[in-house]
Amino acid sequence: MIIGFVQTKGGTGKSTLAVNTAFSGYMNRKFGSIALVELDPQGTLKGWWEDRDEMGYDPGKVSFHHISSSQKEVFQQGIKSISDYNELMIMDIPGEGTGKLHTRFACAYCDLVVIPMRMSTNDESAFINNLYPIIKEILRAVPEKKGQFHILPVFTHPRLNRQNCFDYFEDILPHQVSCLPVVFPTRSVYEKYNRRGLNLAEYAQLVQSNKKFTQQVDRAIEDIETICKTIIKVGKGNYGSN
Ligand SMILES: Nc1ncnc2c1ncn2[C@@H]1O[C@H](COP(=O)(O)OP(=O)(O)OP(=O)(O)O)[C@@H](O)[C@H]1O
Ligand SMILES: [Mg+2]
Repeated sequence: MIIGFVQTKGGTGKSTLAVNTAFSGYMNRKFGSIALVELDPQGTLKGWWEDRDEMGYDPGKVSFHHISSSQKEVFQQGIKSISDYNELMIMDIPGEGTGKLHTRFACAYCDLVVIPMRMSTNDESAFINNLYPIIKEILRAVPEKKGQFHILPVFTHPRLNRQNCFDYFEDILPHQVSCLPVVFPTRSVYEKYNRRGLNLAEYAQLVQSNKKFTQQVDRAIEDIETICKTIIKVGKGNYGSN
């Protein structure tokens, strides 16, 4: 299965979601091999992975691939060969800087496109102006891809009612795009867990003697498990329909 975190708007949690879903307990119980693929020439995850390597942390089932080329044939070939060798591929797709080439490819290639989006008019109009035209273009060419595009509400207040959020997005979204029945709440732990290459579970170990931090990281781990469960359930409906 191929899952892409796609959003032309920057800073919406794509990289954070890609890493944490790849290392989640849920995905690691479900899949034998997981490729975490960064297409961003910025290499945010690459630096983090190198820190992990240096510290000698065990990647378990997760392998990391950074494809910096923005030459269409090169990155398409790279991705295809990685997907042949992994049961699950999770892609972190860069935002606007690369001429939307990666966005177009990811939208066409993934079994499930997850679009992290804040509840803000700014994000909503950016989506309608930038990403939505690409989605429409793909659906015109490949109508079977209907059902593949899902908004994940992000940076929501931790106590926000999920149903209200879902209703809000379902109301404003065009019919080709759905809202996932799950949210990615704002948690301060995301600002600090990944220093020196740690993932959430390793950070949880590190702070286990601190009750407050442990509570924060446990909540974040729970959010990620719920997100994974939801996206796999939705993704399964599309898997193999390409
Ligand atoms: N759920 C969250 N709660 C609080 N902060 C978060 C959350 N998710 C991500 N962040 C923080 O928000 C910032 C942007 O996140 P991230 O880098 O994942 O976004 P991005 O979409 O990959 O950005 P870019 O478009 O620049 O690649 C980071 O500082 C990250 O630590
Ligand atoms: Mg990023």
